[in-house]
Amino acid sequence: MNSRYYWSLGVFVSLSILPVTVPAETVKVGVILTYSGGAAHLGQQIDRGLNLYLKQHASELGEHKIELIKRDSKRPGGDVAKTAVQELITREDVDILTGFVFSPNAIASAPLATQGKVPMVIMNAGTAWIPSLSPYIVRVSFTMWQAAYPMGGYAKRELGCNTAAVGYTDYPPGKDSLAAFKKGFETAGGELVDAVPMGGPREVPDFTPFFQRVKDAKPDCLYIFVPAGNHATAVAKIFADLGMAAAGIRLIGSGDITPDTKLQDMGDDALGVITMHHYSADYETPINQEFVKTWKSEYGQDSTPDFMGVAGWDGMAAIFHVIRTLDGKISAEGAIDALKGWTFDSPRGKIMIDPETRDIIHDEHVHEVVKRGDRLAINLVETIPQVKDPCKVLKIGKCGQ
Ligand code: PHB
Repeated sequence: MNSRYYWSLGVFVSLSILPVTVPAETVKVGVILTYSGGAAHLGQQIDRGLNLYLKQHASELGEHKIELIKRDSKRPGGDVAKTAVQELITREDVDILTGFVFSPNAIASAPLATQGKVPMVIMNAGTAWIPSLSPYIVRVSFTMWQAAYPMGGYAKRELGCNTAAVGYTDYPPGKDSLAAFKKGFETAGGELVDAVPMGGPREVPDFTPFFQRVKDAKPDCLYIFVPAGNHATAVAKIFADLGMAAAGIRLIGSGDITPDTKLQDMGDDALGVITMHHYSADYETPINQEFVKTWKSEYGQDSTPDFMGVAGWDGMAAIFHVIRTLDGKISAEGAIDALKGWTFDSPRGKIMIDPETRDIIHDEHVHEVVKRGDRLAINLVETIPQVKDPCKVLKIGKCGQ
């Protein structure tokens, strides 16, 4: 053997024991949230949740980095969000889209995700059929049916609501919540006596005439869906002002009417309100206690996460999973494949992305508003484990297509 042979063997050996270096990628994530306007608080919750996850876990991306490009969708109408998404795809060339407070904003943006082949990780928009609008949508938040449908059965069976009225904000998730509650309630043998559309999501309406109409109809229970936030505080206030409880009407709803961030504003009149939902900052699991502690140390002792904040946290965990699985080279198909069947230990409990529907599966809980010391708190009454979207399971309307 000549020296040249030894030399090339040496190069071969040293090359083969070198660690394989993966080029560092910067993954551009377009975040569309309500950063201003009446729902700025909802955008802030999600923004805080996703930023907190990013900060706590950044080292897990190895050499890869995330660049967040944020845009303000301002309002629920869909138009501003759609323009922002268009710009994020065509000019900023984002790899992933996320955020989406309000269903109409996700609905308007879905065709752009399909055309631009950009995966879209939904952190709020809860109308059940949204994932069917694009093969590139995955939802980490919730569907309206997951809370409203079991609440209907629970109201009849456990709360003694033989008759009920529904008040709902008049846009897609409100209509979904009405349909889901009605189905669950009537299946259990309850009678729905009225369904009252209560204005839109943009402005908080004066709920007085709507609640007065329900008071006159005298149902056992009033089920409400309004977007969490300022709408929710107003519901508790008008319910109290009109003396609805004294008139024998029990207030129930999806957890959107008792979000942790608004609970202390509701006053003692909210005591005893029963809602169905998938998260409260008051859950006593170690993972949630740790999450709330981290949140408070980052954003102040007076701050609290609510279900929107958790969706931001979980959504960023999903994005991390995609980046790690694809080693930073994002494609829409690759991202969606990576997320099908993904499981995660969230502060809300175990979550999973249903590989068939690309929608979230999580526990639902019966929540009761109680007093602990001088604050209002959520008492966890009962748990329904790992709820798949009932709208798709039952193949209702657009969910069956
Ligand atoms: C929605 O628009 O889908 C939406 C908004 C706020 C909520 C729930 C759903 O609390």
